[in-house]
Amino acid sequence: MQTIDRSKSRADVVFKHIHPNVDHKLEPTSIQHSDVKAQEEVVTYEVNKQVAVIRMGSKPVNAVSSHLKSSIEEKVSEANKDTNVKAIVLMSAIPGFFIAGADITEFKPKTKTEDPTTRLPSRLEGSTKPIVAAIDGFCLGGGLETAMGCTARVATPNSRLGLPELNLGIIPGWGGTQRLPRLIGVKKAMELMLTMKPISGKEAHDLKLVDQLCESNQLLSTAIQLALSIDMSKNIKSLHRQDRLESKAELEQIFAHLEKMVDPRQPQQRQALNAVKAGVTRGGDEGLVAEEEESFNVHKPTAKALQHLFFAERATSKIPNVPAYNKKINSVGVIGGGTMGGGIAIACLENGIKVTLKEVNQKFLDAGLERIKNTFKSKLERKRINQKQFDAALNNLTGTISYEGFQTLDCVIEAVLEIVDLKKSVFKDLSKHCNKECILGTNTSTIDIESIASDLDCRDRIIGLHFFSPANVMPLLEIIRTSHTSNEIIAAGLQLSKQLRKTPVVVKNCVGFAVNRIFFPYGGAAGFLVDRGVHPYRIDKALKNFGFGVGPFRMSDIVGLDVGVMTSNSMKGAYSDRAYDGQLKQIMVDQKRLGDKVGRGYYIKGKPDEEGIADLIKASQNRANNPKPLKNQNEFTDADIQEILLLPVVNEACRVVQENLVYRVSDLDVASVMGMNFPRFRGGIVAWADVFLGAKKTFEKLDRLYQETGMEMFKPCEYLKKCADNNKSLESGL
Ligand code: CAA
Repeated sequence: MQTIDRSKSRADVVFKHIHPNVDHKLEPTSIQHSDVKAQEEVVTYEVNKQVAVIRMGSKPVNAVSSHLKSSIEEKVSEANKDTNVKAIVLMSAIPGFFIAGADITEFKPKTKTEDPTTRLPSRLEGSTKPIVAAIDGFCLGGGLETAMGCTARVATPNSRLGLPELNLGIIPGWGGTQRLPRLIGVKKAMELMLTMKPISGKEAHDLKLVDQLCESNQLLSTAIQLALSIDMSKNIKSLHRQDRLESKAELEQIFAHLEKMVDPRQPQQRQALNAVKAGVTRGGDEGLVAEEEESFNVHKPTAKALQHLFFAERATSKIPNVPAYNKKINSVGVIGGGTMGGGIAIACLENGIKVTLKEVNQKFLDAGLERIKNTFKSKLERKRINQKQFDAALNNLTGTISYEGFQTLDCVIEAVLEIVDLKKSVFKDLSKHCNKECILGTNTSTIDIESIASDLDCRDRIIGLHFFSPANVMPLLEIIRTSHTSNEIIAAGLQLSKQLRKTPVVVKNCVGFAVNRIFFPYGGAAGFLVDRGVHPYRIDKALKNFGFGVGPFRMSDIVGLDVGVMTSNSMKGAYSDRAYDGQLKQIMVDQKRLGDKVGRGYYIKGKPDEEGIADLIKASQNRANNPKPLKNQNEFTDADIQEILLLPVVNEACRVVQENLVYRVSDLDVASVMGMNFPRFRGGIVAWADVFLGAKKTFEKLDRLYQETGMEMFKPCEYLKKCADNNKSLESGL
């Protein structure tokens, strides 16, 4: 695996918390990193019109480290002692950020509960002089909790305020479960916590979470004025307010509803609810204690998994030796106006990039343009965009059936049918018609990219840009580098991904790249189980219970069974030793049950069709020579089914690591969550195995399945075995 400068990756710091027993080779670098951070933290203090103005300047986002916390507390204490000071304003010196939350790199599993009154918001609430939080930008998690500990809040309308802690597997632990309900009511407070979505300063003002709104350039003067106007003898602390809580009867209803809403697979949701309930029934002070207890008892694997993912997502774009790309991509040519080409065009247009759509003839071109226009029309009708955005998008769209105008394009993305010769001829044309700096991307999902342009002199500019369907919705962009792709073109791919607001994962060329490659055994194992007597709907249910939006068979219907057959044939061709040659999908296609696009697949219009598919299942089992069931269908637990489908995926992910195809193991976690909707609260495919099972158990389970079935997909690969033997995590990248 290529080495990278991981000193820049905070994922490493968190990794240490996730895998405390792993002798992590980068630990010294992490320590240096936090030292540098400590030096950068600057909290300034000045007195302006008898108001102490405390400015936090801890780059990049004012995450509250223990150092920043004590610096703020010191300055507040100084202000309380300063006889020239009547009030305090707490604000940020970093544009765009008030505070992004507690410093996640400092998170460690708690060994004991702490005194909640020592938390920063409680300290601020204990100030004898009024403190006004002046918010301009992100004010999240511990940031909002800090602001709620202040006596009052001023914000700019576009600030973003929220409590996203549940997304990290923890609960708001600095009094957020107590003060937010008391400021805006339980219903809205729980909504903010459970959706994890921030609200604007304007909405926060409407909810009375923020006392005053103002523009950025008036923030300080407004905060000073408000601070001077507060009479502390009349002030009621946020923690003790009663006036905004709902009535007893309303609360009963709200809690009954919330009981049904919380997801048992994400225990932090129930714990947040427990803390809120405790505070509402027993009062804010006791509520703080309950919150601390719930925080202490958070489900540690879920927290580890989610925090791992937070840093993993931010690490994917850090690729060694890739130069900065200082240009913007302003124009993209899309070859092929079908589902994928159309989706890519829409993604570009939505982000202000000009699109030239090319088709082979006028009829196809008109159809492609029409589909794109209809998508924007529907967005306009549903008020997802306004007229100005609609006009801008369509003005940026042109169509052609020749290569006229391609000379000036910044980037071209080919999205024609998956036929090697067709793709080869497109790239031959592109090498003639595009300028020498143009990025030449292919959206193939299965074809070896090296083979597409083996004889062209523009090979260094050819890159895989694999979008996931629907391309304008799915958040992942797989960027595939061949042995010839230059670092500059990788930089350009990363830039395109940024402009399209997608998360990139860079992977070296191989059949299936990262996502299709690691997930090909998933479909295989599902077919294997059906042939051994487990019903597709039972399998779908188990995977849904695991946290996937839909199970593998329902997913096949959505993607299209003909597409599925084509993809699995290509994967079977490349990885025949560990592919399961099940016939069910082909039998379905032969029966014209192609999935949702024709209204019939494993399901009929999304509804089960037990009778309709019974004979087809039997036919598949016959073709497989009616293998002996592993056990009685009723004896399979959800966990059995989940492991049979997912452990081979972990195994394949480990092979991808073994073959050095990704820059860091955690890229596969991000790819699985963003490309396959693997449940994020499980941390991604490799983190799931690491955190919830461990390398050794993963190895043993796979080995047992291999011994029982003789199927190669279950045979643990070398990398996995090495990790298990050496008691290392799978994320260690041995
Ligand atoms: N702690 C430590 N580092 C953080 C951080 C945090 N709370 N928030 C962001 N960072 C780091 C990121 O890891 C990233 O570091 P690198 O450059 O080394 O990769 C850097 O700050 C910039 O972050 P982004 O790339 O995410 O920047 P952005 O502008 O795209 O997004 C943001 C900004 C919306 C604030 C986003 O960073 C974010 O959502 N941050 C986390 C917010 C959050 O979850 N807060 C709750 C924290 S937990 C808490 O507060 C517990 C509690 O109850 C007290």
